[in-house]
Amino acid sequence: MTKQALISIALVLGLLLGTPSAQAFEGGGLMSANINIKDKASLQRGAKIYFNYCSGCHSLHFMRYSRIAKDLGLTKQEVLNNLDFTGAKFRGHAISAMPEADAANWFGKPPPDLSLMVAQKGPDYVYTYLNSFYLDPSRPVGWNNTTFPNASMPNPLWELQGLQVPVMSQPADGGKPEVTGLKLAQKGRMTPAQFHSATRDLTAFLTYVSEPAALQRRSIGIWVLLYLAAFTLLAYLLKHEYWKDVH
Ligand code: HEC
Repeated sequence: MTKQALISIALVLGLLLGTPSAQAFEGGGLMSANINIKDKASLQRGAKIYFNYCSGCHSLHFMRYSRIAKDLGLTKQEVLNNLDFTGAKFRGHAISAMPEADAANWFGKPPPDLSLMVAQKGPDYVYTYLNSFYLDPSRPVGWNNTTFPNASMPNPLWELQGLQVPVMSQPADGGKPEVTGLKLAQKGRMTPAQFHSATRDLTAFLTYVSEPAALQRRSIGIWVLLYLAAFTLLAYLLKHEYWKDVH
């Protein structure tokens, strides 16, 4: 292959891959959440963020506190002290204390149940959504979102992320200016790298919630494979035994 051909391949690859954050805000593409739901420490950190910043408005109707304790390796006391702020029983479901009708009045839409959100929209969507809020005084909530335009949810994590503002550009055809990027106008408590990692943990937790059986299924899967291997071996030995007399 010539040197020129190599260079053009590299250029095309570079264009295709781009940088993830530029794509997230410019092309409407999604950032890669890159979660690992087997990483219990990450799930525990995500649960903490969820119950501190999201559960005031959202519910997980299909998830019990006791189940979270069991799957995430937390004690009953840890869950009751650090995650359950509603006074719900340990065996109770993680339901928001906010009455749905009030929420619908305040935000125009009721906050959806998040139990199956990742199963419906995928982890990359949720991760990108959490990273693409920006200030928009024209919206009743004061916020907008490039991944879900005109969402009626205020940025719950603004203190951690800081305040993002839109970068506007005039389209070539002279239409209305469009949001083509986001920039941090005021720093938050976290650096952008820390915030990415926190929203990754949160996305991992919501992914686990939307499929709690996944963790269990994986460990059962290994036993199923071992069983099949052992069974194949037995069948082989048995066949050997039967045919011995025939020969
Ligand atoms: C102040 C209340 C409030 C808080 C706090 C809140 N949300 Fe929301 N959320 C809403 C409302 C209202 C909607 C419905 C938005 C709509 O459909 O326009 C929503 C919608 C969503 C959606 C669905 C987006 C879609 O594409 O349909 C996701 C995902 C979500 N929230 C995640 C979170 C997470 C994660 C947190 C915690 C970091 C959180 N929310 C905190 C009010 C809230």
